[in-house]
Amino acid sequence: MKKSILLIGLLSSVAVAQQATDYSSKVDSLLQLMTIEDKIGQTVQFSGGWDVTGPTVSDVNEDLVKSGQIGSFLNLVTAKATKDIQKLAVEESRLGIPLLIGYDVIHGYKTIFPINLGLSSSWNPELVELTAQKAAEEAAAEGIHWTFSPMVDVARDPRWGRISEGSGEDVYLGKKLAEAYVRGYQGDDLSLPTTIAACMKHFVGYGASLAGRDYNTVDMGDNELRNTYLPGFKAGLDAGARTLMTSFNVINDVPASGNKYTLKEILRNEWGFDGLVVSDYTSINEMIPHGYAEDGKDAAQKSFSATVDMDMMGDLYRSYLQELIAEGKLTMDELDASVRRILTLKFELGLFDDPYRYSDVKREEATIYRQDILDAALEAARQSTVLLQNNNNVLPLKTKNIALIGPLAADESSIIGDWAAKGDRSGKAISVEEGLRDLLNQSNITVVQGTDINSTSTEGFKAALKAAKKAEAIVMVLGEDSNMSGEAASRASIKLPGNQSALLAAVREANPNKPIVLVLFNGRPLDITADITNADAVLEAWFPGTMGGQAIAELIYGKVNPSAKLSVSFPVNVGQVPVFYSNKTTGRPMNPMNPKGDYRSFYQDIPNKPLYSFGYGLSYSSFEYSNIQLDQVTRNGALELNFSAQIKNTSNVDGYEIVQLYLQDVTASITRPAKELKGFEKVWIKAGATKTVYFKLQKEELGFWNNGTFVVEAGQFKYTIAPNSDADLVHSFILE
Ligand code: BGC
Repeated sequence: MKKSILLIGLLSSVAVAQQATDYSSKVDSLLQLMTIEDKIGQTVQFSGGWDVTGPTVSDVNEDLVKSGQIGSFLNLVTAKATKDIQKLAVEESRLGIPLLIGYDVIHGYKTIFPINLGLSSSWNPELVELTAQKAAEEAAAEGIHWTFSPMVDVARDPRWGRISEGSGEDVYLGKKLAEAYVRGYQGDDLSLPTTIAACMKHFVGYGASLAGRDYNTVDMGDNELRNTYLPGFKAGLDAGARTLMTSFNVINDVPASGNKYTLKEILRNEWGFDGLVVSDYTSINEMIPHGYAEDGKDAAQKSFSATVDMDMMGDLYRSYLQELIAEGKLTMDELDASVRRILTLKFELGLFDDPYRYSDVKREEATIYRQDILDAALEAARQSTVLLQNNNNVLPLKTKNIALIGPLAADESSIIGDWAAKGDRSGKAISVEEGLRDLLNQSNITVVQGTDINSTSTEGFKAALKAAKKAEAIVMVLGEDSNMSGEAASRASIKLPGNQSALLAAVREANPNKPIVLVLFNGRPLDITADITNADAVLEAWFPGTMGGQAIAELIYGKVNPSAKLSVSFPVNVGQVPVFYSNKTTGRPMNPMNPKGDYRSFYQDIPNKPLYSFGYGLSYSSFEYSNIQLDQVTRNGALELNFSAQIKNTSNVDGYEIVQLYLQDVTASITRPAKELKGFEKVWIKAGATKTVYFKLQKEELGFWNNGTFVVEAGQFKYTIAPNSDADLVHSFILE
């Protein structure tokens, strides 16, 4: 016992003499003291059983901790519980190596921010960074060292439930937000007790699961992999993310958790990533049903030799690494390399200085639901809610005499969304009802559920119609249950579940001239093509989190001007899926003059264009774009492209506008997307005022991957600066 405390003291005094970031000699000293069993122990991660995030759950096995056979836990929370288990590791295991405690802090820990797809609709990296920083503070106070976030999987199929956890369909926006999350979680100093390690996941291609069915196979060319699916990871790692998680899927015939091409060749060799790689939950074992590993031992060998350092919940490394090394199928050097990466992170987190620094009951009490964290959640909800439709400017609402209808109107549970960590599912989140009552200072709003989220019974319709009749305006809060998105939550139909659309239609039919505001809660783009004809205004609130109801009330009554734009396209219907703005043109692009003819690329029954495109979102302000220009200058021998545009707020309401730069490389050595976002800026423009927005691009930002090589090719480019991705690229330039 005492011995291990001594060891920690010894190692940390070495730390003082060292550069804060160079722990190699301390790690080496420690490695020398470790037996092969100790080393293997570091590669083992078990679930603490406080939460179920996969098919198997383990209870905290104290004996394994005491004997140093576990290096890390997930799903173990609270300052007290984490401290108790840490004590066992530090004071009772032979070497006293502290445990690394990870958890899914995805969009908040206790205070819940909008789901990540919502956060990405804010197009506000500073705000996203703030949410991650606040989430880290809450989680760290409860003993968490490491979050399994951000999820940077590009997702273009709304059937896939995990689209809710990411930043949408676009590479560039995804990169900017990946960096923001990493900065927020890790801060400038990972050793502070208020910062936690970030984890880029899921490596790689998970968002492209075939047919949007979770865990399904992924097959894509190398150019697509490198141009679309890898950049988010690279951006997050360049921003300093210390860990990465593999994915469940097969990518190009090889499971991601044993994929030497993506893990060894690209991640380790090309990118030089020296941080910890953890498997996903039993994803190593799952290489057996994938048909890639014969048995557990074979799976452990394949995964470990692909440099997956830590086995999440699979218990295969503990079972087989020693045997595999004895048989020469793995080497001691490989084991040392992995353990080195794990121990380095523990040093970086300051765990060897004070293993209990994160588990602080007093700090926990002072931090959870702290006012500034709630304020950040409120601002995030305001800036994540997208105004999709506002016919006849019915919003902001002018009357306080409203009927509030729908299964989510008074909800305090789904509003915080899926994977809401330790968020309270009752008694804490502000529902839409509560938000409206507080704002209007009114207790007599009529609230009627009307139907359940997924029901066929029309019993409640009558009461809803009665309330609607008495009111001057109707607010309907419809959508999905939070369990309908997230992991293992794919849906083939992406319509409003149950008979909610029928309820909306019935309310519209009985009230043809009353303003109807549809507020949507959902974790994916929905097919709302029919529903929007039955509402005057539509607010896409996603799952807006703890402060969601207040933000929605403020938006409805114009206390706050909507400023979010979609980070993902809304299809006309599921038949269009996947539909995204940056697709290729095809050899027979649809002829707008003859949209259904000429043997062109179109659907006979629906348009090609989504219902709402990437980048789209309304505001109570209106903006006019002019003077779109490009200046090409050479500075210190390097070409710089300076794009600019003037944006005028032509309304009498101050507001944010998200200004977007789109480019196309017209002809290249491989075909390139019809449009690509290359810059965006969220600017506040006062009523009547004009702002000039600038985008500075380096030449490399016009490049792409072709056959394993990054190239920037001379030639013609088209561009525009616009409010959304529908804009035509009417300007052009030649890159020399
Ligand atoms: C998910 C990961 C998550 C892990 C731990 C898995 O099922 O795919 O995203 O981090 O569980 O909870």
